[in-house]
Amino acid sequence: MADASFTGSDSGNAQDRAHARSLADPEGFWGEAAAAVDWIKPWQRVLDHSNAPSYRWFAGAELNTCWNAVDRHVAAGRGAQAAIIHDSPVTDSIRTITYAELQDQVARFAGALRGLGVDKGERVIIYMPMVPEAAIAMLACARLGAVHSVVFGGFSARELATRIDDAKPKVIVAGSCGIEPNRVVAYKPLLDDALAQASHQPERCVILQREQQPATLIAGRDLDWAALMADAAPVDCVPVAATDPLYILYTSGTTGQPKGVVRDNGGHAVALTWSMRNVYDVEPGEVFWSASDVGWVVGHSYIVYGPLLHGCTTILYEGKPVGTPDAGAFWRVIEQHKVSVLFTAPTAFRAIRRDDPQAQHLGRYDVSSLRALFLAGERCDPNTLEWAGEILGVPVVDHWWQTETGWAIAANCLGLEQLPIKPGSPTKPVPGYDIQVLGDEGEPVPPGTIGRIMIKLPLPPGCLPTLWGNDERFRASYLAAEPGFYLSGDAGYIDEDGYLFVMSRIDDIINVAGHRLSTGGMEAVLASHPDVAECAVIGVADQLKGELPLGLVVLKAGVNRTDADIGKELVAKVRNEIGPVAAFKSVLVVQRLPKTRSGKILRGTMKCIADGTEYRMPATIDDPAILEEIEQALTGAGYGAH
Ligand code: COA
Ligand code: AMP
Repeated sequence: MADASFTGSDSGNAQDRAHARSLADPEGFWGEAAAAVDWIKPWQRVLDHSNAPSYRWFAGAELNTCWNAVDRHVAAGRGAQAAIIHDSPVTDSIRTITYAELQDQVARFAGALRGLGVDKGERVIIYMPMVPEAAIAMLACARLGAVHSVVFGGFSARELATRIDDAKPKVIVAGSCGIEPNRVVAYKPLLDDALAQASHQPERCVILQREQQPATLIAGRDLDWAALMADAAPVDCVPVAATDPLYILYTSGTTGQPKGVVRDNGGHAVALTWSMRNVYDVEPGEVFWSASDVGWVVGHSYIVYGPLLHGCTTILYEGKPVGTPDAGAFWRVIEQHKVSVLFTAPTAFRAIRRDDPQAQHLGRYDVSSLRALFLAGERCDPNTLEWAGEILGVPVVDHWWQTETGWAIAANCLGLEQLPIKPGSPTKPVPGYDIQVLGDEGEPVPPGTIGRIMIKLPLPPGCLPTLWGNDERFRASYLAAEPGFYLSGDAGYIDEDGYLFVMSRIDDIINVAGHRLSTGGMEAVLASHPDVAECAVIGVADQLKGELPLGLVVLKAGVNRTDADIGKELVAKVRNEIGPVAAFKSVLVVQRLPKTRSGKILRGTMKCIADGTEYRMPATIDDPAILEEIEQALTGAGYGAH
């Protein structure tokens, strides 16, 4: 489906040509792409430069994202098509919701929210497991022009409280419980605990009661989802400005305070709609499955908005790649729902391979509907990519993106033209993104040389215009490093063929099973333990989860409790204050931490030792003997043997 109108370059492939044109004529390129979206009022300018380096797409235009994701498909005759299939091995149920049913439920839940005072611009926090009501609540907010903020269920009450205080929601929508393979997670007590910790209080909480663990409702504050829906009258879509916020999604930054990434309505609808055909090569009516969670950006963009904007059927999978019931779970879902394209994190395939290295389960299913597998969320090791390609016999596309961008920065755009796959590389820049690798002084580095991966401004539609309520932090975090560029926070290189390789973060963010976490946040939790004098958290390579956090702690003088006891308390503390998703399970008590002469802890060097990779003694090290002690401690604990 290469677009013949891409004429920006005489390069031999459609992705390069489209990319060149998107940079040479962004307004022409995205103005054309915007024709796939229904607008209530046209834009004055495709790209508003007037407040550079802050840019706004489709300024002056009005639309409604929910209309584009739901109502217009019903109007166009897709009412009877499945919009959402909830496939839930953990509750042993499958539920299909057609576009017509989705429209009805979203319009009624929007009516219910309006009845609770939620209007345009008002915030709603959604704290729900992988159930269709999570998507219904998101779309209902979009219908009203309200701003949703979904919080992942694996976060602690404290993390939820931080988000409540930042977003200041009028209403919180929550599930009574989530279901993990090994346990039922009661969400409602976590919500109550979060509200006890938060300064801001919502006026109402709407609770979806699940039979696995219904919650006790607090009279006067909590309302039952089902009762509310029974009385709710449907409401229409509210026109919003293209530049109005659709949602806030909090993501780990370099401090304990998460960043509230803002997504606008217009640019987001255009970018995601464009990506469905041009990046993922799917057609309306096909089944798209993103095996992630609605609490992450992948879930926002490719469980909910992208597939629905494009008129696809999306799968909301409440299960794991393994253990629900076995490593054939993904193949079962693909066969049963005739999935065309699957998107997940590499860690899911590592888990399947670990349990079923010969892919024997695959033989039990017909996965011939599958045309491509897309992987993102963490660096994809070439082994995993090659294995997935071998067993499935379809293109496996590693693509690179972030919560901030909301959609792929670099990919093999299958809908334009499939490029040769180089394992370890997310291929080339996606149209709209001017990726450059810069050295420490801001100079472009030659091919093959590692540097900071930056994106020249303006970012394309769909990317964050700012951080919620904090323009200054937005500019300081992303725009201040090099004038005219967005700092991705990743380091890597571009090879002689123009392929990008994303190698590591330049900050303290680690990726655990595709989940983005801040080691700084974990350090703050450890440091608040009364026995801890000093600490460092590093991400150590892990065969399944990519990275796992390891805490190195120095105890205060005079502490005479056992290391094991303190270790257990620290593990429990991180689980309690950040959440089980941090997968923080390892603590090593050490005598001293290695530092530079200026007092900076040498986390990178300790990581190299723990990973068993080569490192150079830092020239600025204060006392090399401490590093030797650490090496002994790590080796003694079984690290560094890879
Ligand atoms: N609510 C409550 N707890 C949750 C949760 C949720 N929504 N999601 C995860 N958790 C808990 C898990 O139960 C686990 O707790 P435990 O320490 O008691 O076992 C912990 O958080 C870590 O969860 P997870 O990262 O899912 O690890 P896992 O060991 O349960 O499973 C994989 C490992 C690889 C199977 C799993 O990470 C996976 O399926 N990944 C797929 C990729 C993905 O979803 N990526 C997201 C971005 S694309
Ligand atoms: P998140 O915001 O949770 O999506 O995490 C974004 C970060 O995950 C990126 O900045 C990268 O560090 C990492 N990441 C995501 N996709 C890839 C990929 N395909 N290759 C390498 N790193 C990736």
